[in-house]
Amino acid sequence: MADLVGRLEGKVAIVTGAGSRGPGVGNGKATSVLFAREGAKVLLVDIALDHAEETRAIIDEEGGEASTFQADVTSEADCRAMVEAAVERYDRLDILDNNVGISLRKNIIEIDPDEWDHMMTINLKSMMLASRFAIPAMIENGGGSIINISSVAALRAIGDAAYTTSKAAVIGLTMTMAADHGRDGVRVNCIAPGLVYTPMVADRVDPQLREHRRKASALGTEGTAWDVGWAAVFLASEEARWITGAVLPVEAGAIIAARDHYAHWWD
Ligand SMILES: NC(=O)c1ccc[n+]([C@@H]2O[C@H](COP(=O)([O-])OP(=O)(O)OC[C@H]3O[C@@H](n4cnc5c(N)ncnc54)[C@H](O)[C@@H]3O)[C@@H](O)[C@H]2O)c1
Repeated sequence: MADLVGRLEGKVAIVTGAGSRGPGVGNGKATSVLFAREGAKVLLVDIALDHAEETRAIIDEEGGEASTFQADVTSEADCRAMVEAAVERYDRLDILDNNVGISLRKNIIEIDPDEWDHMMTINLKSMMLASRFAIPAMIENGGGSIINISSVAALRAIGDAAYTTSKAAVIGLTMTMAADHGRDGVRVNCIAPGLVYTPMVADRVDPQLREHRRKASALGTEGTAWDVGWAAVFLASEEARWITGAVLPVEAGAIIAARDHYAHWWD
């Protein structure tokens, strides 16, 4: 591995949603590959094993260390089993990247209450379930780092009521977990990605809209899953040893620029 610099050498990580839903590289896949490049052993967790296998193939090719684990992170039993698998295979757990999340694009009149519950379960409850088993395992080795993937949608409305609400709640969850488990050496932070171009959005973004999204931030450049992955590497590493309870926007200044970049959501 030519580029190995080992910022996560000796660490064991779990990434949930470690595959990508479609062709290309999503946040979970990029984060898993970068964790492995930086020396971590990575448990690639996905409800669709074939998605996780694609990520493992990339890591294998690069000479990194990873294995797959099929789990639905909305299941408490699966979350327990996933943490047990990481400890069984690699002896410890240092990092949890809570990446699974879905969007729906409905307001509160359009959404069915059952759909609302489903969104809260996938986007929020899953992070609580994964963390409640990960934290005790991390404490066994003196602590660890949890990264919860929120969204800029938590900080401004985007025409997706359940998504915005669940992603805002992820910030609250991050703060309480950081406060409750800080003295045990567990850091908990949150990344708020902006309009990154990933398989999650590719099927509903045409070239014109893609260009609109690119221009809609202070930097005016397109973000990728790798941008989110690098932020996760930083928060997972010892470089961030004094950072906890933080929300890190990775969005090219989309919030501060306050351009009309979300106008298309209502068009
Ligand atoms: N792409 C964007 O523009 C953007 C912006 C802000 C935030 N985000 C956040 O990034 C995260 C998604 O990242 P991605 O690109 O890796 O997504 P993705 O849609 O490609 O999904 C990654 C994987 O998650 C798996 N998955 C889905 N439900 C699961 C479950 N219940 N249990 C286990 N695995 C499950 C899928 O099989 C898939 O392989 C989400 O939390 C999303 O809200 C994305």
